[in-house]
Amino acid sequence: MSDTTGKELHMDGKKKLRSAEWFGRKGKDGFIYRAWMRNQGIPDHEFSGKPIIGICNTWSELTPCNAHLRDLAESVKRGVLEAGGYPLEFPVMSLGETLMKPTAMLFRNLASMDVEESIRANPLDGVVLLCGCDKTTPALLMGACSVDIPTIMVSGGPMLTGRYLNKSIATSDIWRFSEESRAGLMTQEQMYMAEASMCRSPGHCAVMGTASTMATMVEAMGLTLPHNAAIPAVDARRKVLAQLSGARIVDMVREDVKLSHLLTRKAFENAIMTNAAVGGSTNFIIHLLAIAGRMGVPLSIEDFEGIEKNIPLLVNLQPSGEFFMEDFYYAGGLPAVMRNLKERLHGDAMTVTGRTMGENVSHAETHNDNIIAPMDSPVKVDSGIWVLKGNLCENGAVLKPSAASSQLMRHRGPAFVFENIEDFKARIDDPDLDVDEHTILVLKNVGPKGYPGMPEVGNMGIPKKLLDRGITDMIRISDGRMSGTAFGTVVLHVSPEAATGSLFGLLETGDIIVLDAISRTLNVELSDEVIEARRKRWKPNYPVSERGYAKLYQDHVQQAHLGADFDFLRGSSGDAVTRDSH
Ligand code: FES
Repeated sequence: MSDTTGKELHMDGKKKLRSAEWFGRKGKDGFIYRAWMRNQGIPDHEFSGKPIIGICNTWSELTPCNAHLRDLAESVKRGVLEAGGYPLEFPVMSLGETLMKPTAMLFRNLASMDVEESIRANPLDGVVLLCGCDKTTPALLMGACSVDIPTIMVSGGPMLTGRYLNKSIATSDIWRFSEESRAGLMTQEQMYMAEASMCRSPGHCAVMGTASTMATMVEAMGLTLPHNAAIPAVDARRKVLAQLSGARIVDMVREDVKLSHLLTRKAFENAIMTNAAVGGSTNFIIHLLAIAGRMGVPLSIEDFEGIEKNIPLLVNLQPSGEFFMEDFYYAGGLPAVMRNLKERLHGDAMTVTGRTMGENVSHAETHNDNIIAPMDSPVKVDSGIWVLKGNLCENGAVLKPSAASSQLMRHRGPAFVFENIEDFKARIDDPDLDVDEHTILVLKNVGPKGYPGMPEVGNMGIPKKLLDRGITDMIRISDGRMSGTAFGTVVLHVSPEAATGSLFGLLETGDIIVLDAISRTLNVELSDEVIEARRKRWKPNYPVSERGYAKLYQDHVQQAHLGADFDFLRGSSGDAVTRDSH
């Protein structure tokens, strides 16, 4: 004990480690802080001023995309130990996209609170965030931003590409299988076979869905080592990256590199430009706005298009293109894309490597131009996420042009309105549904407050009677979100949402909607008198929660254009060590 209780613990004779507030203490308090930790067999010297590194793990067998993260944490630990730190792994709430009801998004803010308070309350000098499935990445980062200690992120990596009937498949094919099954082109037996063939290795969805978009986002912001986004989960190099990240976080503590040093406006702009180049998910916009809110970096939904202007689609990945995340890594991965973008990116943005983003990607190479295209010969000219404005979405709505049908970008047609998702499910396959390919499907009450939790139902299926006629796309508008693996001419995140009594909430079947995506407008043709009359008779038509987390959520969630974070979670409470209670 003498070597641990009699010292003032300072790093390099300068900054005192945060963990010294616990393990460097004398007397009763220091006794208590160390004594219980010793039951894990920790010897004296581990308490003698080594950086304590938390490994914040979203491992869970209920989150299959993250089920291998306990294993990956062992590689992180090896890196921490070799660099002279001491690793302590801890669990936080995990968010599995496929199982959680009503939607994993309802719990993103809750998980972020778990992360924030777990980091702040414990003797941690730095933290490694282990994430994977869609919401786990923004939840961890939002929480860590509100504490702001040295932080590095390690994603679990994508699954290997699935194989069905000797063809490559992945999550985006679910939507196709579903439509083929509803159209009678695929039997239930074939559906079972496809299901067994798709997820054949650990990892998250194998396309540029939301999980890969989030992994791309954090790499583009400089919060991971290069290649984090695309190394397959089962590739040995994923473990190498994890070990190197464990070693690097120890140095980041010594150098006092915090998230606030890296997450500048330039880092956010790099993420937005990169997201356009990779054709990332529409969920990107909502999570990035929430992260900016935590970091105190000014960023609004109106900023996105200006930042990503003239950035074309450079990667040919599903759901917008042909290939899979595994192929993306072999073709050069994200560093190759960012090198192609170098004229546009902020090359001087600092990263966790201790070097600038420009330095990180300067030697990156493309090994397959069919998958990673150069700027002068892109996969598609239109990319990014378009932000629409109009009387139906005063605060904005979003559309992903690379996933949409060009012939529907300008369209005037009658609305067919579903009041909620149950209404949609009950009627969509009705053979007498009064719709044709010119109809605009509208789904209300699936926004942040109205569902609650803003589920991924915005890419509502095409009515069966139209599928039978070979119609594969039509305009769909909702205040909900869409899976990053989905595609179609789908307008999402309408803000303000229907549950607020907005004009979107007043829509009725037969109203004429005008979408002009080229001009970025979305309007309904209704007179002021009709609007006023409807407003007078409008009544909320969504479930109101009376207790528990769902009530907290509905009382405090902000609208989509503000990132759907809680109003009281914007900003940071810092890393100040809280009071002793012994
Ligand atoms: Fe977890 Fe797709 S369901 S990443």
